[in-house]
Amino acid sequence: MTTTRETKRSESWTMKTIRIRHVRPYGEDPTDLHVRDGVLVDPVSDPDETIDADGLIALPGLVDLHTHLREPGGEEAETVGTGSAAAALGGYTAVFAMPNTDPVADSPVVVEHVWRRGREVGLVDVHPVGAVTVGLEGAKLAEMGMMAASPAGVRMFSDDGRCVNDPLIMRRALEYARALGAVVAQHAEDHRLTVGAQAHEGPVAARLGLAGWDPTAEESIIARDVMLAAAAGARLHVCHLSTARSTEILRWGRETLDAANGFSVSAEVTPHHLLLTDTAAEDYDPVHKVNPPLRPAADTEALRRALADGTLDCVATDHAPHAVEAKDCEWSAARPGMLGLQTALPVVVTTMVATGLLDWRGVARVCSEAPARIAGLTDQGRPLVAGEPATLTLVDPDAEWTVRGAALASRADNTPYEGMEMPVSVVHTMLRGRWTVRDGKVVGNER
Ligand code: DOR
Ligand code: ZN
Repeated sequence: MTTTRETKRSESWTMKTIRIRHVRPYGEDPTDLHVRDGVLVDPVSDPDETIDADGLIALPGLVDLHTHLREPGGEEAETVGTGSAAAALGGYTAVFAMPNTDPVADSPVVVEHVWRRGREVGLVDVHPVGAVTVGLEGAKLAEMGMMAASPAGVRMFSDDGRCVNDPLIMRRALEYARALGAVVAQHAEDHRLTVGAQAHEGPVAARLGLAGWDPTAEESIIARDVMLAAAAGARLHVCHLSTARSTEILRWGRETLDAANGFSVSAEVTPHHLLLTDTAAEDYDPVHKVNPPLRPAADTEALRRALADGTLDCVATDHAPHAVEAKDCEWSAARPGMLGLQTALPVVVTTMVATGLLDWRGVARVCSEAPARIAGLTDQGRPLVAGEPATLTLVDPDAEWTVRGAALASRADNTPYEGMEMPVSVVHTMLRGRWTVRDGKVVGNER
């Protein structure tokens, strides 16, 4: 694959016309895409810049509903700057920043700070997720309406990292969210069932002497919340769903409960739950500690099938950077979570495309179109046709690379894929007509 660039005139990027030559939208037949003023347009005769995209696949820019950017308060692990760079390098053009920061994003001040930092960095659209409860403590609803009305325009609320365990608080949150046109994203874990839990409850954890994380802690909350959302006529999104039975509960809820009153339920799966299994813990390396935990292969296979058949709507990274001290310790003391932004697309290709479960159209659906729809974004996850935003990623389907945590853009290096071969590479990313990544490198400004 070769890439050439001929810049004929030096005009500001908003005016520039760009021709992306011989690219394969959704992996289909090669064509040229043309960009002017940040929008895909019909062919232009004399572009300012031409890039040769022979052999590259174009997808709408990827959208991540579940990213931990750690700012404010956790800057030793990640910042809006480093996390945005990792996102752009992974092919993302929008991310949703989870509120379990310090201070918690439970007020207009904090969500506005994260939103502004995202705009200053300018590599991806950073949408703050607002907390459901004050301090993520599960006791008192946060100022959801004020966060929705702030310039950040919050439309997704979550206590992620923790579950909204109290059913009455969850019911009220769903009712408020409905009134705000927002969605509640639940980290489904009945905390009463997971006290001290370290790894999936089963033979592997028993052998390793790690306290078990009972999968019914997830499944029972999903069943409860689907019913609460149906009763409230509200929109529920289930974060990082991880078991076969959880997918069955989703199917049941959709088939039997009344969607006419505004009720809907969507769900995401992480790349690591599609690829890795509970046996990864056998090395006692806390890089494999994550919440919810890695599950047995039967679950992994069910999750892949559920993503292929639409039961699971989308892939979300749960990108969870942690400083060395939080991971370089004994298993039970380590914080749960793993990096995801720069490895998500290759892991989806390994688990879903190489296995024949999805084609590239399907990848566009689960990594871009569906998450944009769930979050109510109107300018992301759009078709690659004239008149739509020039927000896209170009992928080399044959460029393998080896994961090295130290070489990733994140400030942290807790990748579970260290040394693993990834089958595809993101080469270029474009956000509204402006390159954020060229030839695998972040373009320009502040990090
Ligand atoms: O593994 C996880 N890490 N799961 C969560 O729910 C939270 C996240 C974090 O913030 O590190
Ligand atoms: Zn979570």
